[in-house]
Amino acid sequence: MLILGIETSCDETAASVLEVKKEKIKVLSNVVSSQIKLHAAWGGVVPNLAAREHLKNIFPVIHSALKEARVKPSAIDLVGVTSGPGLIPALLIGVNAAKTLAYVWKKPLLGIHHIEGHIYANFIHPVKSAKGGAAMPQFNGVKFPILCLVVSGGHTQLVLMKKHLHYQIIGETQDDAVGEAFDKVARILGLGYPGGPSVALWATKIKNKKSHAYRQAGKIKIILPRPMLNKDNFNFSFSGLKTAVLYETKKHPALMKEPAYIAAICREFQNAATEVLIAKTIRAAQKYHPCSILLAGGVSANLELRKKLGSAVRKELPKMTYHIPEITYALDNSAMIAAATYFRQKLSRKKNYPWQTIEAAANLKLFSL
Ligand code: KG4
Ligand code: ZN
Repeated sequence: MLILGIETSCDETAASVLEVKKEKIKVLSNVVSSQIKLHAAWGGVVPNLAAREHLKNIFPVIHSALKEARVKPSAIDLVGVTSGPGLIPALLIGVNAAKTLAYVWKKPLLGIHHIEGHIYANFIHPVKSAKGGAAMPQFNGVKFPILCLVVSGGHTQLVLMKKHLHYQIIGETQDDAVGEAFDKVARILGLGYPGGPSVALWATKIKNKKSHAYRQAGKIKIILPRPMLNKDNFNFSFSGLKTAVLYETKKHPALMKEPAYIAAICREFQNAATEVLIAKTIRAAQKYHPCSILLAGGVSANLELRKKLGSAVRKELPKMTYHIPEITYALDNSAMIAAATYFRQKLSRKKNYPWQTIEAAANLKLFSL
């Protein structure tokens, strides 16, 4: 089966072709045209600028995805597109391109929730095979029930999945998403957009214990709060943590030019955010007893989070398997949308998917099958 996936919910125009053979999801092409440079000048994504760029790039990107995969439109079995949530001017470009192709090519079309795509990125067969070259088990060995920590620019949720495409949100952020907090902290510290990767990079600068920055930062004690850590539920809150960073910088305005100070704040912020995420995930797993723990969303590209959550699972829950998407499929991409499209089509009893029924929805909620 060959699936074309399309994603335009934010600032990435993406198209990819996936091949599913013997329960193995292989990416034949994954083309992403990023608008980061364009939006960086504005310190965030400007919806109408994003839409204009998507419009310019959508068909060249789809064309490249088919060409790279060496697949003709007639060979495509199924088309999937992100129908929400996201910026409506951006979503409309992808949805209308997908509807046009489905109509002209006479193919079934499915609308996919962006977060469902992030979750299903964990089922994509890795480019490199498992450790020691051993064959990867079916769908990378992910077993239900699943507990998934979703961390992106718009979402922070703990999602329990008893089976494919069934979602129970057991906890979520009460204010900012964790990616949003990373971005806002970067803005406070003048580190540019997007903030997550730069805060993460600055946090590592302190790791080199011989560096001048490390010795300097050792003299500065920065302690940020761990919001909701001891609350007896699985919800999160990151807006207070971001404000605590703002107050910290106001206490020492003269130090803002000191790289060691910036690095120390980034490290403490990253520690605070990841500690809360990990503690709540482990506690939720102890309560709900999943077989697999998954990480999903753009913040799953954060190396500290990937590593520390993995260590915590091995230590506290050794019987559970831990899965993270490859970095390429952690950030916004369309291979993940095509992967989710495969499962929706395969497991649904519905056999016809007319393009007329697909609509873009800015606030789409994660919907179970
Ligand atoms: O999933 P994503 O690409 O877009 C949304 O669906 O929102 O997530 C983007 C978010 C941004 O907030 C970005 O700063 C954050 O993911 N991010 C990171 C890292 N890479 C991206 N946050 C922390 N560390 C990273 N390495
Ligand atoms: Zn995303």
